[in-house]
Amino acid sequence: MILYPHLSVNGEGHLTIGGIDTLELAERFGTPAYVMDENTIRQNMRTYMQAAEKNFGKGALPLYASKALCFAEIYKIAKEEGLGVDCVSGGELFTARAAGFPAERIYFHGNNKTDRDIKDAMDMGVGTFVVDNIDELLAVNSEAARRNIVQNILLRITPGIDPHTHKAISTGNVDSKFGNAISTGQAMEIVKDALKLPNIKLNGLHCHIGSQIFDVKPFASAADIMIKFISEIKKECGGFEINELNLGGGLGVKYTDNDPYIDYAAAIGDMAEVINKFCRAHDIKTPLVRLEPGRSLVAAAGITLYTVGSVKEIPGFKNYISVDGGMPDNPRYALYQSEYTVCIADRADKPKDYKATVAGRCCESGDLIGENMDIQKAKRGDILAVLVTGAYNYSMASNYNRIPRPPVIMVKDGQARIVVRRESYEDLIKNDCLDNPVG
Ligand code: LLP
Repeated sequence: MILYPHLSVNGEGHLTIGGIDTLELAERFGTPAYVMDENTIRQNMRTYMQAAEKNFGKGALPLYASKALCFAEIYKIAKEEGLGVDCVSGGELFTARAAGFPAERIYFHGNNKTDRDIKDAMDMGVGTFVVDNIDELLAVNSEAARRNIVQNILLRITPGIDPHTHKAISTGNVDSKFGNAISTGQAMEIVKDALKLPNIKLNGLHCHIGSQIFDVKPFASAADIMIKFISEIKKECGGFEINELNLGGGLGVKYTDNDPYIDYAAAIGDMAEVINKFCRAHDIKTPLVRLEPGRSLVAAAGITLYTVGSVKEIPGFKNYISVDGGMPDNPRYALYQSEYTVCIADRADKPKDYKATVAGRCCESGDLIGENMDIQKAKRGDILAVLVTGAYNYSMASNYNRIPRPPVIMVKDGQARIVVRRESYEDLIKNDCLDNPVG
């Protein structure tokens, strides 16, 4: 096993995923390619489903934060496993519905839903809007009034927690573009406003403190603050009880030997314990608690396969291994200096006794997968694998330098199938107006 049970090395010394030789996958589907192990995704979803039901009761279905990895097939898997989903854009909603995901199990997020988004989501019958701000609250109410419906909502609240993760993925601070802060009084104001609106049903509160968090403590602190706020609402709003508390996503994932493994079921158990304790202390009934994991459901399942193009050793400086992908398919090092584990799939059994900076093929020095990484010695034509790329890689991919996006290959029980096709050059120009007259 390499980091996770679905990753291993076969008798020929090749890296395998879900029991399949990655060199065969590279040969059959080409590179770069994302490869996902379906059983790992399903197993992670089951872990969350079972832990949520055990600790938070029946109906506390977790919501898959589909921004982590978004294509039709993943919604089908989430539907089959019984989860709800969090969508953040018209595009995610459209994909979910195209895949047949039930609208009532969709939570519609985002800090700036457009009028069109709101209309589209209501046309689809989306179950719950997670309303970010007062402008949006009024817009949702007007659209619901026009349709003569009452829309279920949660309100996004900022508890004022610093989860000590990368600044770009930290979202629970008061100074945030997301939500309404408790400490400024704005959270109470928007609750009171929501309760006055005839076409809004305030079902609950939502907070999301950040991502790639390894410790339960910041979640416990957020829960404490949110539960205290729920008890204040009860006092200030004529006994009104909040039904649902959504604590967002954010549990971390092991990317390298330096990260710990997280026992998600145990972490959920720990959260439940403190939530029950805080509810007793504040004398409120325990709301239905929901979690919204993204990364921890899909990250570990994925790897990316590249072909090595060049190996450049600069005397006195670094060694560079260049691959046929890079920041367009994985922008996470450029954005967050994220660390990854890499290996040469052809010789995954050999020690990683070489140090190299793995570079992409874009015209940009920052186009790196990582610097000074431990890896086997490489040569042109080798297959280089980057592990744990299932989350925020495909979903953050771009066409920078007009590079087509790689396909997504799903492996399951020894079989591989394409779930997202490789983009073609024709796909790249399909929206270009080639025959427009100049001027
Ligand atoms: N719920 C909400 C409201 C969120 O904003 C997010 C992530 C999640 C749930 C899921 O969080 P997770 O369980 O995946 O940590 N692109 C960054 C991560 C951005 C996370 C954005 N929100 C990265 O590549 O690290």
